[in-house]
Amino acid sequence: MAQEVLLGLFDNLEATTAVLRDLERQNIPDRNIEVMSNVPYAPKVLGRRPTRQWPFLPFVLAGVLGGLAIALFIVVITPRLYPIIVGGQPLTPFPPSAIIVFEFVALGAMAGGFIGFLLQNRYPVLVRQMYDPRISEGYIGVAVRADDQAADSVADIFAAHNAHDVVREDAARYPVQSRRFLAFWAGLAVVGLLALLAPLLLTYNIIDIPWFNQMRESPSIGFQEGPRRAAPAESIPIQGPVLINGQPATEPLPASEESLQRGQLLYEVNCAICHGMQGNADGSMTKYFPEAPVLTTDRVSGMADQEIFMIITLGRNRMPSLAENLTVNETWDVVNYVRALREAGQ
Ligand code: HEC
Repeated sequence: MAQEVLLGLFDNLEATTAVLRDLERQNIPDRNIEVMSNVPYAPKVLGRRPTRQWPFLPFVLAGVLGGLAIALFIVVITPRLYPIIVGGQPLTPFPPSAIIVFEFVALGAMAGGFIGFLLQNRYPVLVRQMYDPRISEGYIGVAVRADDQAADSVADIFAAHNAHDVVREDAARYPVQSRRFLAFWAGLAVVGLLALLAPLLLTYNIIDIPWFNQMRESPSIGFQEGPRRAAPAESIPIQGPVLINGQPATEPLPASEESLQRGQLLYEVNCAICHGMQGNADGSMTKYFPEAPVLTTDRVSGMADQEIFMIITLGRNRMPSLAENLTVNETWDVVNYVRALREAGQ
């Protein structure tokens, strides 16, 4: 049975209300009637039943739950997948987590509310709609979808209430919104869900991109492994801590020939001005540091290597710290040489 769409234009509210009443008497279902005007009349004003709308709040709540789920995934699951152990415990810091949860819940509520608003207003309009520009100029349009027989009586009703104009067209040109509308939203839901879930393929290594995400998995050569690569040009050599717990961090170097030779050079540059070339406290600066002691005494040879190391590194009273002048190994070389001074003097 072919259908028609009829559009009647009326110039006042009373006529429109009367038309709607007569249409109801003709058993034209309410969902087949559409009233268009440039003033938004509430259905009650036109004597119609209030339109059924999508409820708004459930959309906001669904958005909140969705946002919460995403936030909990980021905050709870991700750190479990990639644990950073701090103090024996996996790291799930509270304040940043709270911010993430808040942000995603707020975002979800907004997105849910927005979608709810669109659905309530039956957006987007995806089909051609019966319309007449005169509606924008103040006429009230009543569009009715009816099958052929009913269409004639609808036209009669329009005429009986002094319709300014009646347009009749084949309903096939104006498809019903609902099916495309549902398809649009179902499609959007599917696409949205896929977009949300796609990153999980990476997270759970279903799509496995060979890339390290832990520092210990990154290519490196441990200090105990050889052969070691040469340090890149212009790299800065660094050494470990000089002191640990106030004690030398390293063991003394053996007093080899080479160590003693290096120690002598370094002693003559750094120490001799105060302590003298042979450790006899007769350097060029000794008169300004009369406390600078002779270094060939029993007192000095009774000292542990570590103690001399500490004096050189930290200084003592008016003797300055020489840590900036000597590296750790150089300091041990000097310690060896200070011991050798006494043997050389004997
Ligand atoms: C600016 C002068 C000066 C320089 C340079 C200097 N010292 Fe001294 N050194 C002193 C003074 C002053 C003392 C005495 C500190 C005190 O009052 O305990 C001293 C004390 C020492 C002592 C302790 C001796 C003892 O009997 O207690 C040692 C060991 C020593 N110096 C080694 C060195 C070495 C090794 C160097 C070079 C790496 C060096 N010093 C560079 C001034 C100097």
